[in-house]
Amino acid sequence: MLLAKTERRKSGKRSPSTRELGMPLHEIISLNGKTAIVTGGALGIGKGIAVRLAEAGANVAIFDLKQDDAKRTAEEIRQSGHKASAFTGNVAEEKDVQALVQSVMQEYGGIDILVNNAGIFPNILLREMSRGDFESVLSTNLIGAFLCTKYVCEEMIRAGKGGRIINITSIDAIHPSMVGLAHYDASKHGLWGFTKNAALEYAPHKIWINAIAPGGINTPGVGAMNRTQEMQRAVDAFAQQIPMKRMGEPDDIGKTALFLASELSGYMTGAQIVVDGGYLLT
Ligand SMILES: NC(=O)c1ccc[n+]([C@@H]2O[C@H](COP(=O)([O-])OP(=O)(O)OC[C@H]3O[C@@H](n4cnc5c(N)ncnc54)[C@H](O)[C@@H]3O)[C@@H](O)[C@H]2O)c1
Repeated sequence: MLLAKTERRKSGKRSPSTRELGMPLHEIISLNGKTAIVTGGALGIGKGIAVRLAEAGANVAIFDLKQDDAKRTAEEIRQSGHKASAFTGNVAEEKDVQALVQSVMQEYGGIDILVNNAGIFPNILLREMSRGDFESVLSTNLIGAFLCTKYVCEEMIRAGKGGRIINITSIDAIHPSMVGLAHYDASKHGLWGFTKNAALEYAPHKIWINAIAPGGINTPGVGAMNRTQEMQRAVDAFAQQIPMKRMGEPDDIGKTALFLASELSGYMTGAQIVVDGGYLLT
């Protein structure tokens, strides 16, 4: 390929167009005929991701603890002319994850994309944190991603068509954003390590695994953190430091997830994209 290009240049012929180099852009970004699972897809960042993947043509399976919100989001996506359905369960419960994978296989006949987004971030000082507090964050944020990856990859390998896994980590996988998140930071550092090792293991099966590390994003989960004045002050102080001078929106992460789910990122695996309005620069 390289030789062919060099020869073309020597012979004075025009350089190849995008079309000659590969697929046209609308095909590169299309997810037509693909099926994506988005965990925690009922609200917040997960909803932002589900909406963009569906818009690009994917059948989107929303998997969430909150049945009513999951149904409502799937209905909104269908109302805008795209394909989505809702599944209820807990990512940290092995039997729920197995049932989800079975149901999605039955409904759509395959799984091409998994977004491990479901996560919790209760703010608790370490000195007040119980073993149960620590374990519940690890269960959802880390063990949940492990279980979904394991069972979805089994199907991807069986189908032999490769796939994409996108893990939603956090800037806290790189640097702490505030005190009271020691359990959360442990889970997100863990998820980043998990991303790299899984990417290595599954590369021979053409399953590309990457992570997105969001900064502060306006979601119901962040809204719920602001219940005490002290937390409100901590979140405000965080927001004021953002070089882009705004909190992120779920769609900022939705667009990045579309990039990682599509051929736009066709030569990436084991990478983490920071989407934080520049926060980590401060
Ligand atoms: N919002 C932020 O500023 C921010 C920043 C960095 C990373 N993140 C990460 O992004 C992800 C989404 O965060 P968000 O702010 O949208 O949260 P959110 O609380 O607004 O929404 C999370 C969704 O996940 C679902 N969920 C929670 N636990 C679940 C479980 N065990 N099984 C199935 N579904 C479950 C909830 O019901 C909810 O619909 C999390 O992993 C979070 O750590 C968020």
